[in-house]
Amino acid sequence: MATALSETIAVRLTRSIDQRAERLKPQDKRESTYKEAFAQSAATTNYDGELEGSAKHPPAAYPHYLPYWDDVTYPPLEPFEAIEHGKDADPTFPNLLAGAHVPDLTANIGAEVQGVQISKLNKAGKDELALFVAKKKVVAFRNQDLADLPIQQALDFAEYYGPSHIHQASGAPQGFPKVHLIHRSADDTTAHDFFQERTNSITWHSDVSFEMQPPGTTFLYLLDGPTAGGDTLFGNMVEAYNRLSPEFQKRLHGLRAIHSGHEQAADARARGSVVRREPVANVHPLVRTHPATGEKALYVNPQFTRRIVGLKKEESDYLLKFLYDHIALCADLQARVKWEKGTVICWDNRVTAHTAILDWQDGQRRHLARLMPQAERPYETPFDEWKR
Ligand code: SIN
Repeated sequence: MATALSETIAVRLTRSIDQRAERLKPQDKRESTYKEAFAQSAATTNYDGELEGSAKHPPAAYPHYLPYWDDVTYPPLEPFEAIEHGKDADPTFPNLLAGAHVPDLTANIGAEVQGVQISKLNKAGKDELALFVAKKKVVAFRNQDLADLPIQQALDFAEYYGPSHIHQASGAPQGFPKVHLIHRSADDTTAHDFFQERTNSITWHSDVSFEMQPPGTTFLYLLDGPTAGGDTLFGNMVEAYNRLSPEFQKRLHGLRAIHSGHEQAADARARGSVVRREPVANVHPLVRTHPATGEKALYVNPQFTRRIVGLKKEESDYLLKFLYDHIALCADLQARVKWEKGTVICWDNRVTAHTAILDWQDGQRRHLARLMPQAERPYETPFDEWKR
């Protein structure tokens, strides 16, 4: 009886916090930590130059992956029951890594894999990929064929891990709204323009953490890139949590924060681009548990986390700033991954933060595609329940 009553109270509390998150709107954008370093829209895409090339730059290598913003809108994402394939995996990874060369990227995060074609993995190999990536946090698979497959086949591969997310504001290849594109045309001046106003382009985040069921195992693959620069930087959020003192960790447990997609949507509208789905806000725990490894990870980011529920604004800002600084300063928990032709970087968005690096200004094109299978609604397990 007491359990049923407390469950009812817990459900009511969750509902009222969720409703509060939904009401959240960007009242004052100046207070938001959202930062748009990669603003893209039809207006910033030079279709002629991309298709035909110029004296300085060749045409896009994958023109069927150029971004389009049509006026089709999509309904809210539906809740679904997530399946965690990493739980079924053989932890010695015989189907994934047999015969592969697998150097670590750093002592604390990341691996590189040569000699495996992920699109050809059997079911056991795909399960092992989910667990391997959850453990390593980010893995660069080299010499992959994902970019050369028909787009639908690439999507089918990714959807083994969960239903695809449709991004609210990004461009997509024509006919494939589930593919999120990161694209800067050749001769684009975004970087130059951005640095007129800002001192750095770093935007730590976990992808679309404002969704109720944000992505887990995530794939990003290179189509075209600058000869130097445009790396992606990843941070290990399990180790970022582990670095905190037990007393501080204990204080974070039980706290939940509002994550909002409203600022990103407002930004897209303000630059005349489209919003493909009405933005949402959701409440997630500050410390989330990974369903396959049992590891606990910090789950806040300056792009989308807005406010810790139950704290006053100054208290919430202070605590979030400490956590953002901690995440950004822990260079000893980070790996900067370099792109090469054929590279697919796979990371687990539940236990990492990442940022693009906008550091090349010579007008070279950068073009990548991201596939984002959605995962479970973030949850936490008690402070003293720890399973390695
Ligand atoms: C992303 O945030 O997923 C994009 C990373 C990148 O462009 O390097």
